[in-house]
Amino acid sequence: MSDLVIHNARVMTCDPARPGLGLVDHGAIAIAGGAIRWVGDDAERPRGGRQLDAGGRLVTPGLVDCHTHAIFAGDRAGEYGMRAAGKSYLEIAEAGGGIAASLGPTRAATEDALIAALAERLDAALAGGTTTIEVKSGYDLTTEGELRLLRCVAAAAAARTQRVVPTLLAHLVPPERTATRDEFVAELCDQLIPRVAQGRLASSVDAYCDEGAFTLAESRAIFTAARAAGLAVRGHAGQFRDLGAAELIGELSGLSADHVEQISDAGIAALAHAGTVAVMLPGACVQLRLPVPPVDRLRRGGIAMAVASDLNPGSSYCETLPIQMWLATTHFGMTIEETWLGVTRHAARALGVAGAGTITGGARGDLILWACDDPAYVPYRYGAATRLIDAIFVAGEQRAGAPPSLATR
Ligand code: NIG
Ligand code: FE
Repeated sequence: MSDLVIHNARVMTCDPARPGLGLVDHGAIAIAGGAIRWVGDDAERPRGGRQLDAGGRLVTPGLVDCHTHAIFAGDRAGEYGMRAAGKSYLEIAEAGGGIAASLGPTRAATEDALIAALAERLDAALAGGTTTIEVKSGYDLTTEGELRLLRCVAAAAAARTQRVVPTLLAHLVPPERTATRDEFVAELCDQLIPRVAQGRLASSVDAYCDEGAFTLAESRAIFTAARAAGLAVRGHAGQFRDLGAAELIGELSGLSADHVEQISDAGIAALAHAGTVAVMLPGACVQLRLPVPPVDRLRRGGIAMAVASDLNPGSSYCETLPIQMWLATTHFGMTIEETWLGVTRHAARALGVAGAGTITGGARGDLILWACDDPAYVPYRYGAATRLIDAIFVAGEQRAGAPPSLATR
């Protein structure tokens, strides 16, 4: 017996066993115990349970935001103004701004304040359709402080049904440790990473391998420690300069290489060989006025692409995935199909979360009922993201939206 049957729907299953977006016109979905039990043709749907008429509208998987830095305190609106006036991100960082400028406020914030700020951002993300969200640490950069941030992520996550996937981020060497840089990296590898693994505080380790952050050799040490601790590998790769991070991440069978504005053919081949996802972060790319990643070369290389918000106080203070979908299509030249897979199935793969981002039997009942029937409509009406959502279900429970047209029938 189903708890809920959504019928008369245009179902975007994103099922890898079906072509493209796996659309089922005149489809239906049955949910029981918080999970999807059945999806198929409306005429064959299970009877009984609460029957919800979708009125022919689009039902998609809940969106998956696979790259955020959502736990931080303070803001950097001043830097935004400086960039608008022509300064570059790296110039601002060299003058003491950038990631380092978020360390002070984050270290000074109480746990309650950090949890409350994160909870607010998680709610904003949910309002835009995000039912699974990754959250990276990385704005403390001391061993105890990073552990504290990950504990705050766990506390915020425990208070909601939205799925939160925590990642330890080796963001950069903090200013007070530049003189003891090697020691800092050794501490990361020998103390922080094993403690994160032991406390099950994150499932992956991300390292920012780029100009102004970690070198390729340092990133290799960090990733090697991650693997030794049983954690997955992900990386910020080639946002500004290609240091060979994609080759390294591919070699170590990493889950994802993110940004990749700069990536060589050898880097693409390494990702293809490992089945690593390339994560597009168009909000940050546009805001920092960077060149567009080589979408066509990635496509030809057979790389699965994800699209994420990069929610952070510096380069992309945005919780709303449909806005990123707009930039991915309009500015990056991704197709509607690529963009949708980028915020569903491929994003889940970048997180190593099986079943998320699809409407398939056994997956959690995370669904969005949209006020349209055409998948193109969501990026096309990018300014109306929240109004375009008629209802959001997390684990089969309706969490937001209560359209009068959706009375139980
Ligand atoms: O993904 N590139 C590194 N990290 C972030 C920026 C973080 C910040 O500026 O605070 C990014 O764009
Ligand atoms: Fe990032």
